[in-house]
Amino acid sequence: MQIAIDGPAGSGKSTIAKLVATKLGFIYCDTGAMYRTATVMALRKNLPLDDEAAIMDQLKDLTITFKPSAEGQLVFMDGEDVTLAIREPDATNNVSQVSALPQVRENMVARQREIAANNDIVMDGRDIGTTVLPNAEVKVFMVASVATRAQRRHKENVEKGIMTSVADLEKEIAERDRKDSSRAVSPLRKAADAVEIDSSNMTIDEEVAEILTLVKTRRGANETGR
Ligand code: CDP
Ligand code: CDP
Repeated sequence: MQIAIDGPAGSGKSTIAKLVATKLGFIYCDTGAMYRTATVMALRKNLPLDDEAAIMDQLKDLTITFKPSAEGQLVFMDGEDVTLAIREPDATNNVSQVSALPQVRENMVARQREIAANNDIVMDGRDIGTTVLPNAEVKVFMVASVATRAQRRHKENVEKGIMTSVADLEKEIAERDRKDSSRAVSPLRKAADAVEIDSSNMTIDEEVAEILTLVKTRRGANETGR
């Protein structure tokens, strides 16, 4: 079974996707982490972020792997643990530019489909239901207001000791939404057959329960041949 969870930054995708995967015993694939890793590589090598040929030259042989750990899923770039580096502001502020490059997307989509092949999987991102796994049995499009999403990020940052204002976070989130939704290749949008969940006033447990209900309904439909 494939479960696709898409939505804008801070809507709760990764939190919910991880919990759903754990509950069902499925693997979890964080596609945003893959685009973030490509961005860290390009920044470290000082590649101009609009030079698609130069980025592809380096990206084609770059290995990006996930490894479960007690602290959550770790991300490795050519064997180096980049779990924290990919969340740095530099990566966050530049990832939408790198992820808009058509060949970068083509490369990532191929990797993501390979991970999904032969596995029950929960995958989250921006184009999973529309492009990466168009035949996913369950598709969710998660939304929440910009204000709610900025408040959530702010709370996370405070817990990590990072000082950013809610106003700055609102700006960063709105700008990334704009770029991700307006790019030419597989922009952020709800698949026609996705179920929209507005998490603004929902707890994490309620969201997980709602998705598990969708999975159950879908399994029931499969068994009765519908
Ligand atoms: O966790 P957060 O919502 O901040 O973002 P993310 O899921 O880590 O994704 C980071 C960025 O990668 C997004 O803003 C998109 O530019 C890009 N992305 C994408 O283009 N397609 C995906 N399937 C996943 C992420
Ligand atoms: O992956 P994405 O950027 O869509 O969001 P996330 O990193 O999973 O969630 C952003 C924050 O919202 C996390 O701190 C979650 O704990 C929180 N959250 C929440 O408070 N209530 C929800 N219903 C969903 C997420």
